[in-house]
Amino acid sequence: MYLENAWYMAAWASEIGDGLVEKTICDRKVLLYRKQDGTAVAIGALCPHRFAPLSFGKKIGDNVQCGYHGMEFGPHGACVHNPHHGGHIAPAMKVSCWPLVERHGILWFWPGDAALADASLIPDFSCYETPGFTTLRGVIDMQANYELVTDNLLDLTHGEFLHAGLLSSRAITISKLETYDRGTTIWSNRWCPDDIAPPVWGHLLQSQLGLDPATARVDHWLYMRWDAPAHMLLDVGITPVGKTREEGTWVFTGHHLTPVSAKRCLYHWSVVRNYGLGDPAIDGFWQMSIDAAFGGQDQPLIEAQQAAIGDRDIETMGAVAIRADLAGVKARRMVRKLAAAEATGGVPAPRGLGLEELLTASAGTREPVLPVV
Ligand code: FES
Ligand SMILES: [Fe+2]
Repeated sequence: MYLENAWYMAAWASEIGDGLVEKTICDRKVLLYRKQDGTAVAIGALCPHRFAPLSFGKKIGDNVQCGYHGMEFGPHGACVHNPHHGGHIAPAMKVSCWPLVERHGILWFWPGDAALADASLIPDFSCYETPGFTTLRGVIDMQANYELVTDNLLDLTHGEFLHAGLLSSRAITISKLETYDRGTTIWSNRWCPDDIAPPVWGHLLQSQLGLDPATARVDHWLYMRWDAPAHMLLDVGITPVGKTREEGTWVFTGHHLTPVSAKRCLYHWSVVRNYGLGDPAIDGFWQMSIDAAFGGQDQPLIEAQQAAIGDRDIETMGAVAIRADLAGVKARRMVRKLAAAEATGGVPAPRGLGLEELLTASAGTREPVLPVV
């Protein structure tokens, strides 16, 4: 199920340079490019003449010339030049045009009613451009419905079983799950005090804190924020037992799921940190960890799960529920509630927690960081 009136991530802004890039977003073929002033735009990717992909064409000023028979389309989708028939432009000579906003290093795409495309509804990912932080980014092409990936991210107890040697932790599985709703934002928080850190943190425990990962006891936190339709920010870290987070080591990880079709999505991920800026060894460590955990462990499992479900709707399959599903269930319900609201033209405003509020709320504390109301 897709929301129409919602902001989806079309691409990392850095993916779109001088060229023409085609993406499929919620079953729509979209062409992304930048105008001469650098503004990115999203228009229909298929020429209305013979449906040639416009990505085979070229930019002429702010317009795109089809690479097959030369019709040109402007950034609002209208044909601006027809080299045939004395230049006559028929009303049907146009492609779609969608709202596109560049913010926080992301190109945000609105597939629905352009009149409702309110940029203030974009969730806060200012951590991607905050001075003093550095962001590692990537994309995984998942052959699975985007909500199966949301389920995965909102229930991190799978770490103990799926992420052996990386994120595995009994402490996470037995920790208390706390969920909070604020508007259309849902939090799924786990606080895991006084235990051994998951293996992936071992390297940082040693290099950053000078502790032996085999014996060091830590407080571990995982606070996941979800905003509709599928944007998540995980605040995750470890600190020696009883110490503040500033005395430990932590990162934000971003997760943006873009539906391509009912059984495929693009999983845009990020790791944001405030240490080792410009250090290729630390970049390499996180890249390797993400590749191994998300690409090597989550992806095959979720794709196999999708293959097993096939064309069925998991919502109607009578799945057994456990308490750890709570946040995922809430997110699914929220998407359906928003879809129902769309039918009457309503777009509830999301309530996200900004980076500054999050850091202020967490400064000097070792307790779970609660959402700011
Ligand atoms: S297919 Fe584009 S001009 Fe013919
Ligand atoms: Fe995972």
